[in-house]
Amino acid sequence: MRKNIVAGNWKMNKTLQEGIHLAEELNNILKNKKVSCDIILAPPFTHLASIAQVVDPKLIKVAAQNCSDKEQGAYTGEVSAEMIKSTGASHVIIGHSERRQYYHETNEIIKNKITIALKTGLNPIFCFGELLAERESNRHFEVVKTQLHESLFALSPDDFSKIVLSYEPVWAIGTGKNASVEQAEEIHAFVRQELQKKYGQQVANDTTILYGGSCKPSNAKELFSSADVDGGLIGGASLVAADFMGIIESF
Ligand code: 13P
Repeated sequence: MRKNIVAGNWKMNKTLQEGIHLAEELNNILKNKKVSCDIILAPPFTHLASIAQVVDPKLIKVAAQNCSDKEQGAYTGEVSAEMIKSTGASHVIIGHSERRQYYHETNEIIKNKITIALKTGLNPIFCFGELLAERESNRHFEVVKTQLHESLFALSPDDFSKIVLSYEPVWAIGTGKNASVEQAEEIHAFVRQELQKKYGQQVANDTTILYGGSCKPSNAKELFSSADVDGGLIGGASLVAADFMGIIESF
């Protein structure tokens, strides 16, 4: 059966000291609480090793926010999947819309990143979702389908089973305007249908599909109550322990 997951994407926020403090704070709260979802923190690269050391991996898993599409070598400024793995991180976010928009990552580049991450033994958290203009012109299903097909659907069923999906409509990210439960459920159900066609019913049932975009304690319960929404990838509300815990406790 698929897992419920709440993951925090810190984006480019928090110094190393602030990040360690937040990770320790969450770890301490979670030591004394029973929660019904897996928890993942995705701090900046510079914080990965330190945070992986201060958290209990049974309570909190650690993810990078990106990885290079090259394995190693003369690529100044890049961070490889293998380097990420060596910090103690178990996951890596790939294909976030901010990478697609500001750093021109294409479905092809994202596909290469996914392949390298899997080869290295990291679990990709694959983000996909449409722009506002694409939704307004009623092309959201087609856009999402193309993103899945071009970046993921060449994978073997075994590799595919290591992936977490995260639907993040770009118009909902950081805007305070979350997708409605109906909008999220409609895309999640559509994606599960695409998975079923490509990989069969078992894989479709077992794949975790998160929702991301202005998810907060006040709307998480409703979003997560949807049949095909298996948790959230949280930006802004993951930067404060009480808010992030509020979302975790929605399960
Ligand atoms: P917000 O929760 O800040 O809208 O960000 C969502 C996101 O991009 C998570 O990856």
